[in-house]
Amino acid sequence: MRTQVGIIGAGPAGLLLSHLLHLRGISSVVLEKRSRDYVERRVRAGVLEQGTVDTLVEAGVGERLLREGLPHHGIELRYGGAGHRIAFEKLVPGRSITVYGQQEVVKDLIAARLAAGGDIRFEVEDVEVHSPDSGPYLTFGGERLDCDVIAGCDGFHGVSRPAIPEGVLSVYERDYPFAWLGILARVAPSSEELIYTRTERGFALHSMRSPTVSRFYLQVPADARVEDWPDERVWAELKARLESVPGFTLTTGEITEKGVTPMRAFVAEPMQYGRLYLAGDAAHIVPPTGAKGLNLAVADVRVLTEALAAYFADGSTGLLDGYSDACLKRVWRAQHFSWWMTTLLHTFEDEDPYARRLQLSYLDYVTSSEAAATTLAENYVGLP
Ligand code: FAD
Ligand code: DHB
Repeated sequence: MRTQVGIIGAGPAGLLLSHLLHLRGISSVVLEKRSRDYVERRVRAGVLEQGTVDTLVEAGVGERLLREGLPHHGIELRYGGAGHRIAFEKLVPGRSITVYGQQEVVKDLIAARLAAGGDIRFEVEDVEVHSPDSGPYLTFGGERLDCDVIAGCDGFHGVSRPAIPEGVLSVYERDYPFAWLGILARVAPSSEELIYTRTERGFALHSMRSPTVSRFYLQVPADARVEDWPDERVWAELKARLESVPGFTLTTGEITEKGVTPMRAFVAEPMQYGRLYLAGDAAHIVPPTGAKGLNLAVADVRVLTEALAAYFADGSTGLLDGYSDACLKRVWRAQHFSWWMTTLLHTFEDEDPYARRLQLSYLDYVTSSEAAATTLAENYVGLP
C-alpha cells in the first residue's frame, strides 16, 4: 500500500492534517490505535482561539461549530473574595474565543474525511515508523504503508517521537506538583463566562460545553485518583472554591464524566527528522491552564500543510526544512503563557509566604492595569 502522507493518530492534529491535505489534492492514510467511538468520546479541551475557528471554518468543517459553539468575549479571574473580568472586547477588540468541545471537532473532522472517501484505519495495532531519513514507511497489524512523508500526530505517548534516533532531539520539560480533576456535568452553567479561581484550597475552573452541560476542573494532588473523588466530594470542593464571592451559588447536577490529568510541560526540538514531522502533543505539551494545547496542534498543522503543499507541487523543500523553526516560536510563547497562568492561579505546597505575596501582587496587577490585562487577553485569544 502506498500514500503520499502516512499520518499516525486520529486526534485533532492528524485528522485536520488529513483533511487539509485532501483539500490540496494530497493523499493520506490515518492510522489510529483506538476505536472511532473512543476518540469521539474522549473529553478534553474546550477553548478554541479565533485562528483555530477560522481554520476549521475555511476548511469547510465549521458549520456545526458556528451553530453550536459558544462565543466568549471575556473571562473572570476570581480570588481574594472578588471577581475581576478580563474584557476581550475592550482589551483586544474584534478577537474572542469559542467554547466547543474537542471531541466535537474530532467528530466533525472524521465525518468530513469519511464523506470524502478518506482512509482512516481505527484500532490498528503496533504501528511502527521505519527509515524516516530514507524511504520512509509504516508497518501496522502485518501491513506495510509506503509514504513520501510521515506525520507523527500521535500525542505525547505515541510512537513517532521515540522513533527519532537518540541524540537528535533536545528535550525541555517541567512537571508540576499537582494535577487537574476534570468533570462534565448535566447542569446549566452557573456563570455566562469561564471563571478561573485561585483560593487557599487550590485552583478551580468553571467552564461549559452548552447551555445544559458544564465542565469543571479542580487542582488536586499529583497522585490523586478518580476513586478518591466521589461526586459529593467533587461538588463540595467546587463549591468551597467557586462560592468565594458574595451572591454566587454553584448549581450542581449529574456528573457524567470524571478524569485526572497530570500537569506537565514538554518540548522536543526540532520537530522533525528526515521525512518524519511531529505535530501537536507528539512534539509539545503545556499545562492546560492557558487552554493552548489543541490550538497549538492546529497551528502546527497549518504550517505543515503549506510546507507539504509546496513540496508535492514542485519538490521544493524550503518550507519543510523550516517547519520546526516556524512552529517553535508560537510553541514557546504558549509555553511561557501556560507556565505564567499556572503559576498565577495554583497553590504550591512548598510555597513560602514571600512567593504567595508575589502571586497575589501579580493578580492585583493583572486585574487593575490595562497593560497587564492586555498581556493576558492577547495571549489567551491567541496571537496572530
Ligand atoms: P491527541 O489528541 O492526543 O491525539 C493523538 C492520537 O494518536 C490519539 O487519538 C491517540 O489514540 C493516537 N495514538 C497514540 N499512540 C498511537 C499509536 N502508537 N498508534 C496509533 N495511534 C496512536 N487544549 C486547548 O487548546 N484548550 C483547552 O481548553 C484544553 N484543555 C485541556 C483539558 C484537558 C483535561 C486535557 C487533557 C487537555 C487539554 N488541552 C487543551 C490539550 C489538548 O487536548 C491537546 O493538546 C490535543 O488533544 C492535542 O491534539 P493531538 O492531535 O496533537 O493529540
Ligand atoms: C477548558 C479547558 C482548559 O484547559 C481551559 O483553560 C479552559 C477551558 C475546557 O475544557 O472547557
